[in-house]
Amino acid sequence: MTYRTHHCNELRPEHAGETATLVGWVNTKRDHHGVIFIDVRDREGVTQCVFRPEENAEAAELSHALRQEDVIQVTGRVDRRPEFEGQTTVNETIATGEIELVATGLKVLNKAEVLPFQLDKELSNEDLRMKHRYLDLRRPRMAKNLRQRHQITKAIRDHLDAEGYLEIETPILSKSTPEGARDFLVPARLNPGKFYALPQAPQQYKQMLMVAGIEKYFQIARCFRDEDLRADRQPEFTQVDIEASFVTDEDIISLIEGLLASSFKVSRGVEVPTPFPRLTYQQAMDQFGSDKPERRIGMEIVDFSDAFAGSAFKVFAGTIEKGGTVRAINAKGFACVTTGQIKRLEEIAKEAGAGGLAYIKVEGGEWKSPIVKFFTDEEKAALTEKLGIEEGDLVLFGCDQWAVCCEVLGRLRLEVASMQNLYEGKEEELDFLWVTEFPLLGYDEEEGKWNAVHHPFTRPKADDVALLEDEANWGKVRAEAYDVVLNGYELGGGSLRIHEKDLQAKMFTVLGISDEEQAENFGHILSAFQFGAPPHGGIALGLDRLVMLACYEDSIREVIAFPKNNKGVDLMSASPAEVDFKQLRELYVKSTVGEKK
Ligand code: AMO
Ligand code: AMP
Repeated sequence: MTYRTHHCNELRPEHAGETATLVGWVNTKRDHHGVIFIDVRDREGVTQCVFRPEENAEAAELSHALRQEDVIQVTGRVDRRPEFEGQTTVNETIATGEIELVATGLKVLNKAEVLPFQLDKELSNEDLRMKHRYLDLRRPRMAKNLRQRHQITKAIRDHLDAEGYLEIETPILSKSTPEGARDFLVPARLNPGKFYALPQAPQQYKQMLMVAGIEKYFQIARCFRDEDLRADRQPEFTQVDIEASFVTDEDIISLIEGLLASSFKVSRGVEVPTPFPRLTYQQAMDQFGSDKPERRIGMEIVDFSDAFAGSAFKVFAGTIEKGGTVRAINAKGFACVTTGQIKRLEEIAKEAGAGGLAYIKVEGGEWKSPIVKFFTDEEKAALTEKLGIEEGDLVLFGCDQWAVCCEVLGRLRLEVASMQNLYEGKEEELDFLWVTEFPLLGYDEEEGKWNAVHHPFTRPKADDVALLEDEANWGKVRAEAYDVVLNGYELGGGSLRIHEKDLQAKMFTVLGISDEEQAENFGHILSAFQFGAPPHGGIALGLDRLVMLACYEDSIREVIAFPKNNKGVDLMSASPAEVDFKQLRELYVKSTVGEKK
């Protein structure tokens, strides 16, 4: 005896006359003059079941009491849907719409209380959804997302397997590895006062696997980062983590292009053209003000530093004189921007480091802006020509040192695009690209030290290694690093690695890590590199982001079964939670929460 003979998406007219048994949830219930129609739903679909007193009085009676989401088992005869009052009752919107199951038996497997929310409506209260995530996941959209995630993951596994990659697990209880976020720590009871760190990425382990001669590794790896959360960031998330020996950047790039093409083939059913276009970091910042450019919205940044050198507008001329730059974007047709929107744009510019926001509205044949009176005809002509200025446009300026100026205009572009609804209708447009030649090092003004832009294991470009000898040149060193970007999201990042002990030690020193700290924290890496470490490199893709984009979602929470909210809380299980004093004592840990300063 099995629970079911068919799934709820299976029965067709050719089954007419057969007896079938279905199990599932009561999706809907309708009462037509004493005849009860129940749509039964399981994972695969929906089938209409009809309860007529003349077929089985007991089942029909029982069906009256059914409520939405009760779990039932229905046995019956498959019938073609009849005509009713001269009209067909076929439902073309579902796969089983030509038949119905005329019930001869009904068993209630479990009852459901009235649900806290309806499953067939979108619900804006995310807290409520998360609290009852097990119900939220019954919605078709959520169920579809989880299925797509499985299919994409499987396609990735199959693709990497076919390319000779071995799936290998690395520890979760591990040691702090620098990826730029805070660690989650786990007290080690057997080693009082010591802590494991949950991996921010399996970076060091995968490099050790290369030294071990594995040659091609991958892992669908859970990573943990204690950072501020956003729509595309969770404290625990999943990477498709890859490392290979004896490879060039081109090998990794073409592997990933194939992987992403397979992912979008199984999910969206589209052919993604390869190879992907490439931009250097410099080009991406110059043209789009971002290292993960969203190129579908136009509004490229144009440099006017030459045009405004020596301008009568002192804000511009002064900045250029101090080595800065003046750039602009043209928000086509956005002269209708409201005062509130301009305020918001100003805020964004200032958050990104701008002193202010200069702009021109082109309205009624006139350039409306307090700064236009300073402009010469030549300056105006340069703007008109390079930005293609027309009636109805809004021109926004950035005026700062290069990095800030690009960042400001980059953020303004994105905000203007969402204000203007420029993303609408672009859901099917997939703009994949590579960003290459990242700087190796970035100076942190606050900390007063140099940091690795990617991570400390990333290889400097061979041509630039000599620049490491003089701190004055550190900002100019380019890395053998590459990011893959889709529609303005960083999908993944990787690099060729340092495999020589001396170069790795040099890199640590540049990052301000003393010899003692190197020995203590990275001794295993440095010593492994002494025993025949092969040249190697790799990449990690954010699986959650990849699935999010494939599923047309705009938050990774929609493609993770049990995500945390933006405070890092799982509302369903109410974690994190307080623990017993006794438990803490066993771990040699004492909480300072509530202690007076
Ligand atoms: P990186 O830190 O760039 O590289 O991470 C790789 C990719 O992981 C995804 N990602 C995240 N997704 C969701 N939530 C987060 N908090 C989060 N943080 C990162 C992004 C990102 O592109 N070890 C290196 C890879 C390597 O060099 O091989 C690394 O972790 O999509
Ligand atoms: P001010 O001369 O300070 O009145 O500024 C004139 C215009 O230039 C105003 O619209 C300011 O918002 C703008 N502005 C001032 N400083 C900057 C800056 N660093 N970058 C861009 N615009 C600026």
